[in-house]
Amino acid sequence: MKILIFGKGYMGERCARVWADEAILSEVHIKSVEDALEEIQRHQPDAVFNAAGVKGKPNVDWCEDHPFETIQGNTLMPLLLAYACQQAGVYLLHMGSGCIFYGDSHHEDKAWREDDFGNPTPVYSRSKWAADLALSTLPNVGIARIRMPIDWMPAPGNLIDKLAAFPKVIDVENSVTIVDDMVDVFYQLLQKQAPGIFHVTNPGTMRHRDLIELYEELVDPTHTNEWIPNEELVAKGLATKGRSNNKLSSENLAKFGISMRPIEEALRETLEKYAAAKKEEEHGCGNGDNCCGGGCCEIGEGECC
Ligand SMILES: NC(=O)c1ccc[n+]([C@@H]2O[C@H](COP(=O)([O-])OP(=O)(O)OC[C@H]3O[C@@H](n4cnc5c(N)ncnc54)[C@H](OP(=O)(O)O)[C@@H]3O)[C@@H](O)[C@H]2O)c1
Repeated sequence: MKILIFGKGYMGERCARVWADEAILSEVHIKSVEDALEEIQRHQPDAVFNAAGVKGKPNVDWCEDHPFETIQGNTLMPLLLAYACQQAGVYLLHMGSGCIFYGDSHHEDKAWREDDFGNPTPVYSRSKWAADLALSTLPNVGIARIRMPIDWMPAPGNLIDKLAAFPKVIDVENSVTIVDDMVDVFYQLLQKQAPGIFHVTNPGTMRHRDLIELYEELVDPTHTNEWIPNEELVAKGLATKGRSNNKLSSENLAKFGISMRPIEEALRETLEKYAAAKKEEEHGCGNGDNCCGGGCCEIGEGECC
């Protein structure tokens, strides 16, 4: 399969790394339908994957003061790309966010379904929800919503790195996405050219406390942080807007024969691999690279020499 990826950021690069020769990571910054169509015609992919978007730097609070840039990147650009894909007759998988839902749903189990309407207030979440609303009306388009990516590879956008670095952490319960599983699910969706909305989150929920406990057990026993109530995040000036916390119910992946590991199992395994990656990093090795220049070990195969 030849997959053309737009968005050379955390997710685009992470997927390209796994999909290797099957992936083309585009350098193009899409400003028009023509920009996207030219690139699609140049590469003739079997499927297009949209990992481009605007999350704000250093975090989503930036989007509150930059609504036009945010809407341009998260709402307008995906629609231009979708139009180009429709013209070229190519399937599009778009990366959505589960952060369009705030709090509990009206369902008895309080979890949000794929076809529920979002209830976002912040600019970032609204811009993502607006794209979902429009894209979900189109044929040959899939929307894959993820939440709080957790990865064995250390990275600034990895929830492990984020939570471990915060001196004050809220203890909230959420649906989350293990990145290894996510990359695999995206690949299957692209292969099956699956239309519709998909909650790409591992079954079950995780409290921030669960992740930190595993971090202290497996990565850094000296780690400490203060636990604060969710309401204090904004009240103490740690964020401009409250963050989305929610549970997602994933019902549509199963219709395509796709499943993900339960979060308890996937979380521990990810933290174990993360601990090994950190050790290799300390010894001056890059992620997945061999140690000591002699090919003595790789991630998961034990300590560096
Ligand atoms: N990471 C998460 O926690 C998370 C969670 C849920 C959903 N998502 C969604 O997943 C997608 C990817 O996230 P990410 O973490 O990989 O973000 P990222 O690291 O910020 O990467 C996004 C990339 O998209 C590029 N981009 C922006 N506008 C573009 C355009 N018009 N044409 C082509 N490229 C463009 C950016 O380039 P420049 O920086 O050069 O503009 C950047 O390289 C986003 O849509 C995000 O909303 C992410």
